[in-house]
Amino acid sequence: MTSTSTPASLYERLGRNAGITRIVTDVVEAHLANPLVAARYRAVKDIDRVRNMAIEFFCAGTGGPEPYTGRDMLSTHKGMNISEQEYMAVMDDILGALEKHQVDAATRGEVAGILYSLKGDILRV
Ligand code: HEM
Repeated sequence: MTSTSTPASLYERLGRNAGITRIVTDVVEAHLANPLVAARYRAVKDIDRVRNMAIEFFCAGTGGPEPYTGRDMLSTHKGMNISEQEYMAVMDDILGALEKHQVDAATRGEVAGILYSLKGDILRV
């Protein structure tokens, strides 16, 4: 019998909520250890909330059922004057965590494309 299969969504390829939670947890650790951005995250009052919002954002943005209950990217990053170097450092931390979790190169490329597409709302706003 032939069967048609739907390609796995990005959300599924990242390991659904459990996989994304592990990835984002490592991303926050990487930011706190990255001299290019650590001070930004050390200054955050409630890093657990930001971590949870980032998990929701990744889940919702990759096709998961979780609603995103955080602030939009422009309101969140407005006034921070985030530089190109910082933006690249954050992308590197995220892509490094994906590699650590054995996410394949094509999937990492899809995530990179999504992250890059958000820069107009985050970089130097
Ligand atoms: C690359 C794409 C990025 C994404 C998808 C992203 C996503 C997010 C999300 C979902 C939040 C939580 C929103 C909320 O509070 O409701 C957040 C907060 C934050 N982001 Fe980003 N971010 C990105 C890049 C950056 C960069 C480059 C920096 C600077 C190094 C940065 C610094 C921060 C800080 C400091 C907060 C916490 C703000 C607070 O005090 O509440 N983000 N980000």
